[in-house]
This record gives sequence, structure tokens and C-alpha cells, in this order.
Amino acid sequence: MTSAIGTVTERHDAASDALWRQDTQALHAGYRGREQQRSAAVPIYQTSSFVFDSAQHGADLFGLVEEGEVYSRTANPTLAVLEQRVAALEGGVAALAVASGMAAIDVALATLASAGDHVVVASQLYGGTHNFIAHVLASRGVDSTVVDKNDFAALRQALGPRTRAVFVESVGNPSGGIADLARLADISHAAGVALVVDNTVASPLLLRPFDWGADIVVHSATKAIGGHGNALGGLIVDSGRFDWRAHAARYPQFSTPEPAYQGFVFTEKFPDRAYIARARAVLLRNCGAALAPHSAFLLLQGLETLALRQQRASSNTLAVIDFLQQHPEVERIHHAGLAGHADRGLAQRYLRGGLVPALLGFELRGGRPAARAFYDSLRLFLRLVNIGDSKSLAAIPAETTHSLLTDEALARSGIAPGLVRLSLGIEHPDDLLADLAQALAHAAAATPRQRLAA
Ligand SMILES: Cc1ncc(COP(=O)(O)O)c(C=O)c1O
Repeated sequence: MTSAIGTVTERHDAASDALWRQDTQALHAGYRGREQQRSAAVPIYQTSSFVFDSAQHGADLFGLVEEGEVYSRTANPTLAVLEQRVAALEGGVAALAVASGMAAIDVALATLASAGDHVVVASQLYGGTHNFIAHVLASRGVDSTVVDKNDFAALRQALGPRTRAVFVESVGNPSGGIADLARLADISHAAGVALVVDNTVASPLLLRPFDWGADIVVHSATKAIGGHGNALGGLIVDSGRFDWRAHAARYPQFSTPEPAYQGFVFTEKFPDRAYIARARAVLLRNCGAALAPHSAFLLLQGLETLALRQQRASSNTLAVIDFLQQHPEVERIHHAGLAGHADRGLAQRYLRGGLVPALLGFELRGGRPAARAFYDSLRLFLRLVNIGDSKSLAAIPAETTHSLLTDEALARSGIAPGLVRLSLGIEHPDDLLADLAQALAHAAAATPRQRLAA
């Protein structure tokens, strides 16, 4: 069962989940078919509330004297399976499921920082995250410093007594750059600050930030975890390793009585998972970005095939890179797996299982007009803003996901105006290459002047 604030005790043997390979965890962690009326599929608990046996039972559940769900804004058994499954895949102690990736980023950072505090963020960021930190967090009184992910001197300089988090994407969207997580963790920890990593693009199959010292991981489960473009969701995972007590001056919220939750001291009540318990009890419970049980079911269904999908998407990405590299209309390809890419060494160090991220950017010789002509001619790739789907997708970030960035911020994020982003799915590679070939031919025919000028 889970408690009112969802601290998971064992519905099953969680320790055995940790022994499985990730391929197996994606199918079985957090749930055994025998538990709920012998249902092999995880049941959807489509309920807002859970019934009390008596007045005393309700009081005990609220006071955490007894464990059990109360209300689905805070905890729900279908979500608990998703949480345990993703915690197992990431090698964390506990997770919290929320309504979207942006909600995960909001809750993750708001658990650490409030008015008067400061965060440091890497410049390679999803546009929505950039916007959230630059405008929404700022409007709540949390200011930020943006540093290049490889500028370690700038990071050291940016860390101060008010800093509550360093935030970075393990694999950048759309730049595809790889963060040197071990180094970032060392520098953050030397200053007593927690490292929060958005692991959406990589997924735990390609990279596990906790193996390199990260403290908190966030995901947009809308992407590779769900993998079928049919449900929004987000997850926050706690490594359980950051010593909040030792850093109580910087993070008093974990080791002093919490006024927003019955005066609980999280490090006393939940010593191994104080962070995620507070995220649930204070932020999710009071702000309400709860994931719907049906969405959790869809995300669990998609997650079952994560390992197979990542293998095929990875090999499709390599086939597309090979094709684009030889194409006369293509000016530049952005993918850390490429020889000559600045982050190739980091990709070789950090990416697991011989897999590459299924996300790449490329620029056409004809610039932005050619990119538009190419884009409008696609027949199989879907023109939309999402990534990590089993279907292949295309977007022009400067015109969509990152359109609110200034020219300077775009340049810092490595996004040229005509950059095309491809998210590779699991179709047959020959069909993907045929679609790219015909769209590139259309782009060449539509922009002859630009090509000659180039
Ligand atoms: C790296 C990354 N993080 C977070 C998000 C936000 O996720 P969601 O759309 O589920 O809110 C996205 C969305 O594209 C993303 O690409």
C-alpha cells in the first residue's frame, strides 16, 4: 500500500525489481499480476477518493498512523506502479508521477527553491523549460543564471549561498549535446547544491544520471517512456543520496517542521526519501498537478516496450544519419554520435548499450526556405512538436518549440533558424529514407537560388 503521501511500502518485493535487467523491469517492476484480483494488466483505479472504514480510520490515514490512499490528487495505486517502475529503471529509491513533464520540472524545482533563492541552468534546454525558468520561476522570486554546460568555471562562479539547484538536460533537446554529469555533480556537490537532471531525451535505457552522481531526475513521460504520443505525464525520481540534513542551512525545508504538512520533519519521517515525500505532500498535494489514472495506465503500457523501441529507434537514427551525411542538400548534422561532434567523447562515455539518442537536427544548404520546403513535403514523418514517439516526427524548433527564445538564446542553445529536428520512431528504415529523399528533392527544386548561392 501507499500512505496518504504515497510513501511506498512493498506491495511486492521491490528489492527483487532492482536485480532485474531494465528490459524486465519495464514489464514487471512495481506490480505482480497476482496482487489485484489476479489481473495480469495493471488495473486502472479510476477513482478520486478511497473509502474510510470509520472516523478513526480516516484520522489515522491523514495522520500517517496507518498507511493507505486517501485522495487521488496525492496518491493512487495505478500511479504507484508507474512510480515504482520508473524508480527501478533509474536506480532511484522512489518516484512521483505528475500531469506532464513541465509539471515535473515545476514540482522538482519548487521542492528545492522558493522566493529569494537561485538556480543555475545549462543553456542547452527544451524551450518550454527555458521559458518556465526565465519567466515563471523568476516571477515567483527565484532567479537563475544560465551557463554553458561545458563551462565549468562559469558554473563554479555562478554557485552561491542562495543557489538551490543545478538543472541540466542529460541529452539536450534539440541540440543533442551530452552533459558531463560526473563533473557537474562534483562541482554542484562541492558547493553543497543538488544536481537535477532532465533525462527525457536519453530515457533510463541510454543513460542513468544517478550512476554519475545526479541527485534528482525528471522526465517528460509524454516522450520515450509512454512512447505512443497518446498521454501526457511527468516523473520525478529521488536518488535518496543527497544528505539534506548535512545541508540543512541551505535546505531547511527537509529537516525542520513543515507547516504545510502537519509539522512533519521529512528527514525524520522519511529518512531515505525526504525529497520525494516533500514533493508529494507539499507541492503535488497543494498545487494539484495530478496525473490521471488512465494516463498512467497508457504510460505503463507504452513503457513495457521501451527497450525494444529504443533499439529500433537507435538503429533508424544511425541509418538516417548515414543517409543525410551523403546528401548534397544537407549542410550540417547535429548528433553527438557523429565523428567530429564536440560531445562525441561524452557520448561514448555516458551512453549505454551501444544505443544513440533517436533525436537529431540538420541544416539544409538552402537555409530556412529550404527547411520549410522540405518540411512541407514530408509524407511519412509527422509534422508536429513531440519527440520519443514510436512514429517518426519532424519539427522546426526556431519556429515552434523555441520560438520565444531571443536570437542570442537560440544561438547559445545551438539552434539555427533553419534547423530541422527529427525524432526517429520504429518504422522500417527504408520507408523513412524514401520519405527524406523525396522531401529533400522537393526542397532542392523549391530553392535553387539559395543552393547556387551556397
Ligand atoms: C527535454 C524535455 N523536458 C520536458 C518537456 C516537457 O514535457 P511535457 O510536454 O510532457 O510537459 C519536454 C517537452 O518537449 C522536453 O522535450
